[in-house]
Amino acid sequence: MPDIESLLKETRVFKPAKEFSRQANWNKKTTAEYRKLGDKNPERFWAKMAKENVSWFAPWKKTLQWKPPFAKWFVGGKLNVSYNCLDRHIEGENAWRRNKAAIIWEGEPGDSRTLTYGELHREVCKFANVLKGLGVKKGERVALYMPMVPELAIAMLACTRIGAPHSIVFGGFSAEALRDRINDAGAKVVITSDGGFRRGAPFELKPAVDEACEGADCVDHVVVVKRTGEETAMKAGRDQWWHELMEGASANCKPARLDAEHPLFILYTSGTTGSPKGILHTTGGYLTHVTTTAKAIFDLKETDTYWCTADIGWITGHSYVVYGILANGATTFMYEGVPTHPGPDRFWEMIDRWKVTIFYTAPTAIRTFIRLGDEHPKRHDLSSLRLLGSVGEPINPEAWMWYHRVIGNKRCPIVDTWWQTETGGIMITPLPGAVDTKPGSGTLAFPGIHATILDEEGKEVAAPNGGLLAITRPWPGMLRGIWGDPKRYRETYWSKWKDIYFPSDGAHKDKSSYFWIMGRIDDVMNISGHRIGTMEVESAIVSHADVAEAAVVGRPDEITGTAIVAFVTPKSGVDAGSALADKVRKQVTREIGAIAKPKEIRFTDALPKTRSGKIMRRLLRDIAAGKEGIGDTSTLEDFSVLAKIRESDED
Ligand code: PRX
Repeated sequence: MPDIESLLKETRVFKPAKEFSRQANWNKKTTAEYRKLGDKNPERFWAKMAKENVSWFAPWKKTLQWKPPFAKWFVGGKLNVSYNCLDRHIEGENAWRRNKAAIIWEGEPGDSRTLTYGELHREVCKFANVLKGLGVKKGERVALYMPMVPELAIAMLACTRIGAPHSIVFGGFSAEALRDRINDAGAKVVITSDGGFRRGAPFELKPAVDEACEGADCVDHVVVVKRTGEETAMKAGRDQWWHELMEGASANCKPARLDAEHPLFILYTSGTTGSPKGILHTTGGYLTHVTTTAKAIFDLKETDTYWCTADIGWITGHSYVVYGILANGATTFMYEGVPTHPGPDRFWEMIDRWKVTIFYTAPTAIRTFIRLGDEHPKRHDLSSLRLLGSVGEPINPEAWMWYHRVIGNKRCPIVDTWWQTETGGIMITPLPGAVDTKPGSGTLAFPGIHATILDEEGKEVAAPNGGLLAITRPWPGMLRGIWGDPKRYRETYWSKWKDIYFPSDGAHKDKSSYFWIMGRIDDVMNISGHRIGTMEVESAIVSHADVAEAAVVGRPDEITGTAIVAFVTPKSGVDAGSALADKVRKQVTREIGAIAKPKEIRFTDALPKTRSGKIMRRLLRDIAAGKEGIGDTSTLEDFSVLAKIRESDED
C-alpha cells in the first residue's frame, strides 16, 4: 500500500458548520443514536429505517434471514418501488407534490424538459401498460440501452411498476457487449433510442441494438425513443416507436404488489475474469438502503435541486439519480451530454441557471475541471450550492481541497462516499451535519453497516496499517447474487473469509478510526470511476487475428485515476507499429466500448511469465508506471523479456 504514507500526512480536519448541523436531516444527536443502534443491533436499525422511509403494502415478518452468503431482508413484506417513487408523493397529505418537479432534464443542445411528479406518474403508468401490451410479465427481463433522456427513468420505473427486472446497459458499450448482456439476462424487450447528443453532435444507438439482436433470439420487441430525429432503420414486426406506442396507452396502471425479495434489476459489472457479472438487486432492502442513505447523506430537502452527474447506466445513476432521490420526493436534475460542451463551463453555467443545491460527481471530473482552470467556475454564481459529493474512486486530498475551495466556496460540506455496484448503496461516508471530514477520507461506515480492515487470514489490522476492506454483517442493499451463477457469487465475494463480504479494495484506518480507501487490489482497473477488468480487455485484444498474446494493466493517470496500458505480442510475421495499435484499439472499442480503449500500447516479443505460465502483472504494472528497480524476478521464465519490454517504444 504505497499511498498510505502520503495520506497519513493529511491532517486537515473540517468540522460541520453549526448552521448546517442545525438544519440537517441527521444532526449530531440523531446520528449518534442511530450509530449506537446500528452498532448494537443493525437489524433493528434497518427495520426502523424501512418503516420510516419506505411505504409497504404489507409488513414483513422477519427483518433478516441470513443463510450465508444468501440474505433475505424484510421477509414477507410487500411493496412496489414505483409506488414509493411516485404514487405516495401525489396522494393524501402529499398531494401538493403532484406539481413539484420530479425530473428536470437538459439536453446537450440546450433543450430542456421538466416532469412534475404528477406527469412522471402518468408517463410511467402509460409505459407500464405499453410493456404489458408487448407481453412482458412479472419477472421477465427488459434491457435498456439509452442515452441520458427522461424516457430512461420512465422506462425503469415502468419496469418496477409491473415487476419486470431491468438490465440497463450503458450507452457507451458496444453491440458485442450489449448482445452478451441481453443474452445473459434473457431479455425479451430492448428499449433504446435513435441516439443522443454528445460533444455537439448526434450519435447513433439503434444500429448497435440491431447488431446485438442478430445473435439474441430472446428479444421479441425493440422500442425506440425518438431523440435525434436522424434516419433510423426499423425492423418490421420487431421495432416500434416509443411515441406511437404511448399514444394509445392508458394512464391507469396499478403498481404490482411485489415481494420484498422480488428481483428489481440486474446490472453488469467487470470482474477478474473475461465475462461481466450480472449483479442482482432486489426490492425492499435495496429501496430501504438507497432511500435512507440519500436522505441522510445528501440531506435531501423539499426545496433542493439535486444533481448527480453519473450516467444512469452505472449503479450511481440507478441509486442516486433515480431511486434514492425520487423515493424521497426530491427534484433530480439530469443532463444528457459532456461537461465541456459548448464550453468548459457548461456544468457551472447549469448550476447557476437551475440553482442546483446539491452536486454529486466523480474525482476524475473534478481533476478535469482543475486542469481546465478556475476561471470557468468563477465566472458563475455557485452560491445556490449547499452540499458536494464525490464517488467512484479515491479522491486525492488536493482535488478535495479544490472542490471545497473553488466549487464549495469553503461553505459546503463534502461527502466522499465509498460503495460499489454490489453494495447497492453508500457504505462509508461522512454525515454532513455530524461528522468531521478530512480531505481524502471516506470517514466512517454508515450506521448499520459493519466495516473493518482485515488481513488475508481474517485478523483485524490495527491502525495505521493497511489491509483489506471487509464488511462483516449483511446489509439491506447488498447484492443477492450474480445472475445465473451462485458459484461465482460465493467464490468472488465470500470465499476469502468465512461469512464476511470481500469488496476487493485495500484500505487503512487512521487514529480516529477513519477509513482511507486505497482502491482495487484485484485485476480490476478503475478508469474514471468505472470498473474495467484487465481480462475483459485482454480477451478483446487477443480476439484480433494479428495478435498472439496480450496483458493489460493499469497505471496511475492524473485525470482518469488509472489509465489502461496493453502489452501486446503480435503473431509472427505481423508488423508491430501504429497501424496495429490502431487496429487493437478499434477491436477493443468494438468488443467492449470506447471506455476500455488502451491509452498506451506496447509491443513485445513475449510476456514475462512465471514457471507455471502466469503473467507477472506486478512487473508489468511497475514497467507501465515507469518505476525503476523491478523487484523480485526470481520466478521469471525468460529474463530477457523484461529488458525488452522496458525498451519497447511507447506507441
Ligand atoms: O474501488 C472502489 C471504487 O469503486 C469501486 C466500485 O466501483 P463500481 O461498482 O463501478 O461503483 C462505483 C460507484 C459506487 C470500489 O470497489 N470506489 C467507489 N467509491 C469510492 C471508491 N474508492 C475510493 N473512494 C470512494 N469514495
